[in-house]
Amino acid sequence: MAEEKAIFLIVLSTMFLCVSGVGVNWGTMATHQLPPEKVVKMLQENGFDKLKLFDAEEWIMAALIGTDIEVMLAIPNNMLEEMSKNPKVADSWVDENVTSYLYTGGVNIKYIAVGNEPFLKEYNGSYLQSTLPALKNIQTSLNNAGIGSRVKVTVPFNADIYYSPESNPVPSAGDFRPEPLRDGNSVYTNVFDANLDTLLWALEKAGYPEMHVMVGEVGWPTDGDKNANVKNAERFNMGLLKHVMSGNGTPKRKGTTIDIYLFSLIDENAKSIAPGNFERHWGIFEFDGKPKYQLDLKGMNENKGLAPVEGVRYREKQWCILDPDAVDLNYLPDSIDYACSLSDCTALGYGSSCNGLTLEGNASYAFNMYYQVNNQRDWDCDFSGLAIVTDEDPSQKGCQFPIMIISHASSLAMYAGFADMLKRTLWLYIFVMSFLVL
Ligand SMILES: *[C@@H]1O[C@H](CO)[C@@H](O)[C@H](O)[C@H]1NC(C)=O
Ligand SMILES: *[C@@H]1O[C@H](CO)[C@@H](O)[C@H](O)[C@H]1NC(C)=O
Ligand SMILES: *[C@@H]1O[C@H](CO)[C@@H](O)[C@H](O)[C@H]1NC(C)=O
Repeated sequence: MAEEKAIFLIVLSTMFLCVSGVGVNWGTMATHQLPPEKVVKMLQENGFDKLKLFDAEEWIMAALIGTDIEVMLAIPNNMLEEMSKNPKVADSWVDENVTSYLYTGGVNIKYIAVGNEPFLKEYNGSYLQSTLPALKNIQTSLNNAGIGSRVKVTVPFNADIYYSPESNPVPSAGDFRPEPLRDGNSVYTNVFDANLDTLLWALEKAGYPEMHVMVGEVGWPTDGDKNANVKNAERFNMGLLKHVMSGNGTPKRKGTTIDIYLFSLIDENAKSIAPGNFERHWGIFEFDGKPKYQLDLKGMNENKGLAPVEGVRYREKQWCILDPDAVDLNYLPDSIDYACSLSDCTALGYGSSCNGLTLEGNASYAFNMYYQVNNQRDWDCDFSGLAIVTDEDPSQKGCQFPIMIISHASSLAMYAGFADMLKRTLWLYIFVMSFLVL
């Protein structure tokens, strides 16, 4: 048993339909986007039949037209205030982002998520007043558009609405903010079940014993921390899938499959790393659409690998590294800091895949990340004359020096500024994790 990190987020909804299949979160906080229609094709090939989006981005919605993929669309937190005060704002959001896609052969929008973890403690209650009124306005807008029974409204909550390890020793003690573990006759063999049952107990006490619960985000990162690696992520996700699809349910709610959305689809190199370096490494797929490990999405023990995103285009096979003949290294630390502040050096940190590099290796890694994120422009491999371009791959065992993809979104995101993209932050819990019993 190792101390591990996992993210666990819950979506509550008042529906009782039993939906099967595995969902996945597609976040887009990356400097370079894969072509969305190719990502959608990959989703279909692999059998991901439910998708959770953090925003109704037009370029993704367009790629989903004509597919059966069931979509949960989110309204960003920064829109809640306005939406709570003005029903017209809700009307036009529904009109532009939902109704317009709901024609036959359009997009299979099934849920609207109002906000993203709006009651997270770190938000200091900023969205406490606006979330419910915004939800009501959205429901009214959907009703008025005649789609109120077809599209369900929900709120994704972070597990911090109830989870407090000190005051909450067993699931049945679960209550809204007022683990293996034995609780009465129930034995808990994994934190996932214990966490879910804590919520189910809390809901029962609040008078909603049968409310349907979906796990909106659950996953394991592959880099950026000591225990964040491909082996652990594969083991966690394999065990998780087997468990949720077994139909065993949890000790509190036996005999059901559990609806989950894996976190997440593709690595996001521009996410805030306030919670930790691992934030940029949640993807089941690399930034270029290659699967990091295998996953049996149908729970059928098929040894078929995950299909990659096909037809991805890369920049030239060239890297920017520290000039081995450089003599004056006074500016080296500043240059590394600069390069890393405008790219992604999370693989260099403690416990990460490139942590063992020398100072010179660190410099080369940083220079290359900066050069690649800037699409290999000549003038971005200089660093006061310390850097040179090479066509020899500087990657070392376990430490990849990537080559960037040619971004679908015409580098728009890049020039909009790296910092702007660091807004969405996901928080996570540190669990003492006993792996799911296989
Ligand atoms: C539709 O969603 C997009 C993405 O969140 C947003 O920018 C836009 O303002 C929304 N449209 C309306 C009319 O609210
Ligand atoms: C919440 O309050 C803390 C302490 O006052 C502050 O540091 C933080 O920036 C606030 N966060 C938000 C999202 O307002
Ligand atoms: C390389 O960079 C990492 C991350 O900043 C740091 O922890 C490590 O000590 C550096 N290595 C050397 C030899 O300076």
